[in-house]
Amino acid sequence: MEKAESERKVEESVEEDDQVVNPWQVSAKDGGKIDYDKLIDKFGCQRLDQSLVDRVQRLTSRPPHVFLRRGVFFAHRDFEEILNAYERGEKFYLYTGRGPSSEALHLGHLVPFMFTKYLQDAFKVPLVIQLTDDEKCMWKNLSVEESQRLARENAKDIIACGFDISKTFIFSDFDYVGGAFYKNMVKVAKCVTYNKVVGIFGFTGEDHIGKVSFPPVQAVPSFPSSFPHLFSGKDDLRCLVPCAIDQDPYFRMTRDVAPRLGYHKPALIESSFFPALQGETGKMSASDPNSAIYVTDSAKEIKNKVNRYAFSGGQDSIEKHRLYGANLEVDIPIKYLNFFLDDDAELEHITKEYGAGRMLTGEVKQRLIQVLTEMVERHRRARASVTDEMVDAFMAVRPLPNMFD
Ligand code: TRP
Repeated sequence: MEKAESERKVEESVEEDDQVVNPWQVSAKDGGKIDYDKLIDKFGCQRLDQSLVDRVQRLTSRPPHVFLRRGVFFAHRDFEEILNAYERGEKFYLYTGRGPSSEALHLGHLVPFMFTKYLQDAFKVPLVIQLTDDEKCMWKNLSVEESQRLARENAKDIIACGFDISKTFIFSDFDYVGGAFYKNMVKVAKCVTYNKVVGIFGFTGEDHIGKVSFPPVQAVPSFPSSFPHLFSGKDDLRCLVPCAIDQDPYFRMTRDVAPRLGYHKPALIESSFFPALQGETGKMSASDPNSAIYVTDSAKEIKNKVNRYAFSGGQDSIEKHRLYGANLEVDIPIKYLNFFLDDDAELEHITKEYGAGRMLTGEVKQRLIQVLTEMVERHRRARASVTDEMVDAFMAVRPLPNMFD
């Protein structure tokens, strides 16, 4: 018999494996790179291959997002089922979220939201966005009030990504948990033993019980009945969750219990991590401001950070560089361009020239600085136009009458 998805981690944790990826810690083996193939095997998700990308293009009649074309979103669970259903004319809804642990977002934080915005536009489906202010209050030692304040601040950055207010509901756990949502939490909690959460999340006897009780909060937005103002009478609606792969443990648990509660398992589409400026050894660190580009950075700061800190795969002398070319495997400017330079032909050109040593690191960094500055500038303008009234409007518990149009 096939093992429950959530059971895998229990066995893995006993095995010798220095790579750690869970919602709270991302670190590669011996300070190396995250091995994403191994992660797919370990978590038991599927690789998102070219045929699925092609299928998305066919079904949506638009070019696939750069994050799909370049393999940034590289893994999935049941994404095919979502596409099958969509092809039959059944819609679905999107669910993603953010733990508001800091005031300023870095570029890595924007990745899932930029992608979710594309999915919403391409498939024309409703979206719920969970702000887990409760989670960060419990994990980050923030006060309730400070977590709530950060949730609203982060909501502005999220709204600035361009979501359609007629199809999007943003909620904070502190404000929204209750009613149907809470009933689902209790049903989930009854299905999950203590041993099971220890297996999936690695909690110990020293962790406070808030942590143990949290996973149902992140689980139940996957069930349509948690949003009666949106999906009343639509218990059969499927849910697709775009997220970074470190969130997978929550959804392994959710997928285990879903059939027992009479819901479809949520489908997932999962991204790799946006690397730190210093190199691809994990996620960016919130504690080191020089490890990331923030959406609040000035043009000057972006220029300085890229020039000083972006790890280069270029050779250490021009002669050697011309001879051997850059090591693109470790080069951060190329990796960043891979995320954010939309023009396939230009990226290919840069990659080829740089790899052959005809282009120098300085030139590649120059282009990256342009791309990032434009992006951050655009975001800053968009965010500045988000008013408190708009935040209230996105977060109002209200029906969305034309959300499937
Ligand atoms: N736990 C996530 C974080 O810390 C926030 C989150 C809640 C989330 N629900 C989600 C992320 C669904 C992705 C998908 O950032």
